[in-house]
Amino acid sequence: MPLQPGAILLGGFAAPEADQLLADIQRIEEANPFRRMVTPGGWQMSVAMTNCGEVGWVTDRSGYRYDWLDPETGEPWPAMPMSFRSMAERAAEVAGFTGFDPDSCLINRYEPGSRLSLHQDRNERDFDAPIVSVSLGLPATFLWGGVTRGDKPMRVRLLHGDVVVWGGPARLTFHGVDTLHGGASPAGSFRYNLTLRAAR
Ligand code: SIN
Ligand code: FE2
Repeated sequence: MPLQPGAILLGGFAAPEADQLLADIQRIEEANPFRRMVTPGGWQMSVAMTNCGEVGWVTDRSGYRYDWLDPETGEPWPAMPMSFRSMAERAAEVAGFTGFDPDSCLINRYEPGSRLSLHQDRNERDFDAPIVSVSLGLPATFLWGGVTRGDKPMRVRLLHGDVVVWGGPARLTFHGVDTLHGGASPAGSFRYNLTLRAAR
């Protein structure tokens, strides 16, 4: 389902691989645990995050950035699993973005009550590459906004295995996630989201 030019929801695209993706998330979190980071403004996020790939997205009092090292471990982030890379390359291709070469994946973990306020993904070095976003576990309401934070967002239901790809004219669209409701899912009472990026 197209969301706007350059943005598309691929319903169930990752469903056949969901178990493998969840197993790889679990392996990553054993060494690089999910943590609730603090925004530059001093608020603790309700979404817990970790990363894999060459660089990882982090936030603290000094700002948002991509970092070579996990600040929790002082070590590089774990390599991006083949399952993540392969799924993201195929999804980008289907969405019309050939040659997507992600070097970073932010892994978000939502629990009931977690939300992510409207933002743009703009810490990447350039905006030529799309963002590939994979939903696993509990359903969520994705907020798909406009070019300014004030544009009223569209509400899009995202289910286990859904993939959203945005790039080109949609690359800097504001987006977020409404407060997660509880329930049961193939990932227990969590929602996981992978966002694959070409960050550097
Ligand atoms: C994000 O914008 O980083 C995550 C979006 C989502 O969880 O669906
Ligand atoms: Fe985002």
